[in-house]
Amino acid sequence: MDPSAMVTAMRTHTCGELRLTHAGDQVALCGWVAHRRDHGGVTFIDLRDREGVVQTVFHPDDAPVAHAAAQELRGEWVVRIMGVVRERPAGMANVDLATGAVEVAVTSVEVLNRAETPPFVIEDRIEADELLRLEYRYLDLRRPEMTRGLRLRHEINRTIREHLDPLGFLEVETPVLTTATPEGARDFLVPSRMFPGSFYALPQSPQQLKQLLMVAGQDRYYQIVRCLRDEKPRADRGLEFTQLDVEMSFADEDDVMAVIEPLYVRIVRETQGVDVSTPFRRMSYDEMLERYGSDKPDLRYGMELSTFTDLFEGSGFTSFAKVAADGGVIKGLVAPGGAAALSRKELDRLVEDAKGRGAAGLVWIAVEDGGALRSPVEKFLSDEERTGILERTDAGTGDLVCLVADRIDRTNVALDGLRRDLAARLELISENLWEFVWYFEPPLFEWSDDEDKWVSNHHPFTAPLTDDLEPRTAKARAYDLVLNGFELGGGSIRIHDPQIQERVFEVLGLSHEEIDAKFGHLIRAFRFGAPPHGGIAMGIDRLAMLMAGKDAIRDVQAFPKAQSGADPLMGGPSPVDAGQLRELGISVLEPPRAEGER
Ligand code: AMO
Repeated sequence: MDPSAMVTAMRTHTCGELRLTHAGDQVALCGWVAHRRDHGGVTFIDLRDREGVVQTVFHPDDAPVAHAAAQELRGEWVVRIMGVVRERPAGMANVDLATGAVEVAVTSVEVLNRAETPPFVIEDRIEADELLRLEYRYLDLRRPEMTRGLRLRHEINRTIREHLDPLGFLEVETPVLTTATPEGARDFLVPSRMFPGSFYALPQSPQQLKQLLMVAGQDRYYQIVRCLRDEKPRADRGLEFTQLDVEMSFADEDDVMAVIEPLYVRIVRETQGVDVSTPFRRMSYDEMLERYGSDKPDLRYGMELSTFTDLFEGSGFTSFAKVAADGGVIKGLVAPGGAAALSRKELDRLVEDAKGRGAAGLVWIAVEDGGALRSPVEKFLSDEERTGILERTDAGTGDLVCLVADRIDRTNVALDGLRRDLAARLELISENLWEFVWYFEPPLFEWSDDEDKWVSNHHPFTAPLTDDLEPRTAKARAYDLVLNGFELGGGSIRIHDPQIQERVFEVLGLSHEEIDAKFGHLIRAFRFGAPPHGGIAMGIDRLAMLMAGKDAIRDVQAFPKAQSGADPLMGGPSPVDAGQLRELGISVLEPPRAEGER
């Protein structure tokens, strides 16, 4: 940005742009009073705007009227000051502040607006309650750190547009009032006044519409688009979030990667100053689960999982032998230095954590001097098992081996959680390391215990890898991009043959009538010349969260909902008046619950 673009009738410069080169300049600045302090009769006010903070000086002799006025100023008052930029006296420069070499000697000040005392101090590293920060989000966003988050998102969006435009992608907007597209979450519904008793759905993603754009011959589409899913919010999951949504015709998996990889390299370079090499790592879904127990592993550290099931077949350690005999697995990992670093109490806590993650338990084995093993189960292990454990894990003195025996899915979940916890506790994670990895060929279907039927692993428009549509074995032409343990995005090559699409719906248990009612439009479109196509959607909130070094996507959204899903700023969701409901033909069965009961 050219700073002169920020000049207005009221100001000549922004607070944050002043440097030594401005010394001697007559300036007019507008901003908020960040701090006021008095020193030897002189009043210092730090003036803040979006671009930064600058020290202004009110001297009682040089500008008595301004100095008297400065005594009235309070935090967050909005003021306009006139003055002259000068170099700070020797030894007074503040190297932590971009404007720290200069100060503004004030000649006059004008109060543009007063402010009540804010409910929390507007400063970085504040410890205010999150709900309070969300209720007063307009104050929270005045903090430089929050501005950095907004700017980062802006930079990401700008980079996306700059990257995709020369590659022939058209940015096309799709409707927000639409019908349900299955992405595995519940829909937010919008009642229709003109069609009483009928509802629009807010898009979980523009999946079907982007595919229809391909049928429409539009070849390459993208959109930075808001998606809405009624699912329990978490640190990395919100009711509303933004996707970079992409679709391409006449393209295969490699074509999609070839668009996405350089874009993400560029974003990491521009926001972190780090060069990531391409091609990104690729792994089959099965290999990823085998080696890390997760479909979104953090590859910034090792601690890969090993399998020990065969070692414990018929073992004297009967609980492990039973799991092996019953078709379960015994997997484990070795934490370097874990035995030396964790106390007995902490080791026992690992067992509780594994149980908390749904596994039957966890066995820890500390490796001591000379290869001796210390473990609650030490006496049950045969010599062959001891040697096998040490050989397969390559564990040495001071290392900690952790084993979990259970159904494969529970074992993987427990070890994935353990791996992440131990990496943090043992400080195995390097700063500013960006480990991208793609997975390929996941299952096309997965069994849903909740719904008691097979469901799509991604969504039902994903092309099968082969002719195999048998739910237990079928693989998908799908891929996910993972970064440092988070799923950044996912997509697939799509079905474009109406018959295959119908067969997939049948496997999902839809009758012909249901297929026609829910997806008739798509199948019909496929009969009018659908090109082979595929695409991907990338989560922008998660990317911005990682690039900003934050723990929650809420920290990089301007006006996020609270973790509960409520909106502390505007007060949503809120009851509506009876007249509005009547117009919509809606009667509410449950009285609205008060905030505290949600
Ligand atoms: P998917 O459902 O995997 O795919 O979503 C793509 C990416 O969007 C992000 N994401 C979320 N971010 C924050 N909060 C959420 N609730 C949330 N849900 C998803 C993740 C995820 O990887 N239509 C398909 C894409 C396709 O096939 O092209 C889709 O939406 O980073």
